[in-house]
Amino acid sequence: MSETPGSPGTPGSPNNNGKPVMGWFLFLVTIAAVFGLGLLFASIMERRDEARVRPPMTQIDKFETDNSKWAENWPREYASFREMDDDTTKTKYGGSGERDYLAETPENVILFAGYGFSKDYLQARGHTYAVKDITETGRNNGKLPATCWSCKSPDVPRMMSEFGKKKVDNPDTATLQELALAGAGEFYSHSWNDFKDDITHPIGCLDCHDPDTMRLRISRPALIEAFERQGKDVNKVSHQEMRTLVCAQCHVEYYFKGKGKYLTFPWDGGMSPEAMEEYYNDADFKDWTHAISKTPMIKMQHPDYEVYSTSVHAFRGVSCADCHMPYRSEGGAKYSDHHLQSPLLNIANSCAVCHRWSEDETRGRVNAIQDKNAEGRSRAERAITLAHFDIAACMQIGATDDQLASIRALVRTAQMNWDYVAANNGMGFHNPQECLRILAKAVEKAQEARVEAVRLLATYGYTKQVAYPDFSSKEKAQALNSAFIAGEGPDLLGGFKVSKAALN
Ligand code: HEC
Ligand code: HEC
Ligand code: HEC
Ligand code: HEC
Repeated sequence: MSETPGSPGTPGSPNNNGKPVMGWFLFLVTIAAVFGLGLLFASIMERRDEARVRPPMTQIDKFETDNSKWAENWPREYASFREMDDDTTKTKYGGSGERDYLAETPENVILFAGYGFSKDYLQARGHTYAVKDITETGRNNGKLPATCWSCKSPDVPRMMSEFGKKKVDNPDTATLQELALAGAGEFYSHSWNDFKDDITHPIGCLDCHDPDTMRLRISRPALIEAFERQGKDVNKVSHQEMRTLVCAQCHVEYYFKGKGKYLTFPWDGGMSPEAMEEYYNDADFKDWTHAISKTPMIKMQHPDYEVYSTSVHAFRGVSCADCHMPYRSEGGAKYSDHHLQSPLLNIANSCAVCHRWSEDETRGRVNAIQDKNAEGRSRAERAITLAHFDIAACMQIGATDDQLASIRALVRTAQMNWDYVAANNGMGFHNPQECLRILAKAVEKAQEARVEAVRLLATYGYTKQVAYPDFSSKEKAQALNSAFIAGEGPDLLGGFKVSKAALN
């Protein structure tokens, strides 16, 4: 057995050709060299680690709304945040590809007749578009209240704080949260146009973080106040809950209360559609009057937090951030992905940490859940759309508002329930059982309304089917809405004239 000359071999081993001293020497030199290299490497790693955890900190102002200024301290979070500029992604039901919901589902045009959502209703995009999209949407007629800015920009809590400074005892030491609470009312009482030049930065760091500590923090008064009214303190929740509540500042149902257009979450009796409907009925509230059926309507706005809150994931303590802001690794650094998007575009990080399913299995499971929800949803929207025309037919035949009150109440309930699911993001995934329960209720209420309408028509001698007009495209449906608004809606009774006998 030959041996390479000079190799250390096994120290002191018998086959070391009688040179144990040399062998030991080389062994120790090698150990020292390895140890030295190790030290060097450790020191490099440590420096890099320091660079990651403690960069030379730039002081960030308490009211800093320019997201790029925060990037000096947090380049990775900022870079991932900017990835939301990509609005070309698409999944089966989501992504940020600007789907046109009115073209995809013309029933939507009829359901929102007389309301902004019948004119323009596009799929949401990433947070970096928030200011641009509210400015350019066809729903913005320039006469909106300032309240509409609430969920679009960190300039909102900054401006509320400006107003708040006049109202608190110690403006210099007060927190942004205290100042925003004090100034919110004055902010809401302005018009949207008043702040066009002041509100320029899209949703960003200040909305969720305290710049001094980088701790998660609630900046929006409406959430704080909704918790307060239920006897809860939003500042005393667990860290894991905060990873959901920062989203619940905006991804919730809300309304503008009273003349001051005060942003309010209708949760005092609970967050189910039943509890919210009772709340709105008690307040005698409506968002608009339906242009075809003259029903006092409620628009549900993306109740994402509410729907999620009774889901299996919420029950098991999984937060919005767990799925939408998973950890991401970059050269050994671990950070929260600030590219908020469909988790189906990032299954490996979003779901696979907890579920050992393949990507295809996961996507297949989610799509299967969503397909079922989509089916229930279109059944409901079909039934409610026809119910609006049934009521209009009753009006054409001469039915009175008194006769129609109970039928309109059913349609109001049906559509509010449908919208609780439809306006909720994720096509039912966030809580499949609850969404299907609510859709079943929406279909039932709409069909009850239709049965009552048919009965009412029969009392006037009309027993045929209502002559439903053609609403098969966005354009046709919009033309119908305009006609009804102008009082020139099509004849839904096929030329039927009420006989004197029927009237007596
Ligand atoms: C268990 C994981 C999970 C949790 C928890 C979760 N989501 Fe989702 N979310 C999803 C999935 C899956 C979709 C569907 C994406 C698709 O269809 O492409 C989705 C869709 C969305 C969308 C629409 C995105 C798109 O591209 O269509 C929004 C907005 C959203 N969720 C917000 C939230 C909020 C806010 C919370 C917390 C209240 C939350 N999600 C909790 C998994 C989750
Ligand atoms: C919609 C809310 C939201 C916004 C907006 C937001 N963050 Fe975060 N951020 C989070 C959440 C949630 C975490 C996870 C915190 C935790 O679990 O402790 C986080 C964590 C962080 C952390 C801690 C390290 C890490 O990556 O986990 C830093 C630093 C950070 N964000 C910087 C930023 C910067 C810079 C911006 C603006 C470009 C920003 N964030 C915008 C919600 C937000
Ligand atoms: C300050 C209000 C605000 C906060 C806080 C907020 N969002 Fe959003 N979010 C919005 C708005 C507004 C949009 C739609 C922007 C657009 O389409 O212009 C949106 C869009 C989204 C989208 C759609 C992105 C896409 O690619 O389609 C997702 C996903 C999302 N938010 C998740 C979250 C999660 C998760 C949180 C909490 C960690 C959160 N948001 C916190 C207001 C907010
Ligand atoms: C932090 C851990 C965690 C993450 C992240 C997570 N889940 Fe889950 N998921 C759970 C738990 C826990 C359950 C409940 C399972 C149980 O109790 O048996 C669950 C249940 C489910 C179920 C069954 C639902 C039901 O009604 O029975 C589906 C489907 C699911 N998850 C899909 C996903 C998808 C898709 C993602 C990524 C977008 C995801 N989960 C992310 C922990 C997680």
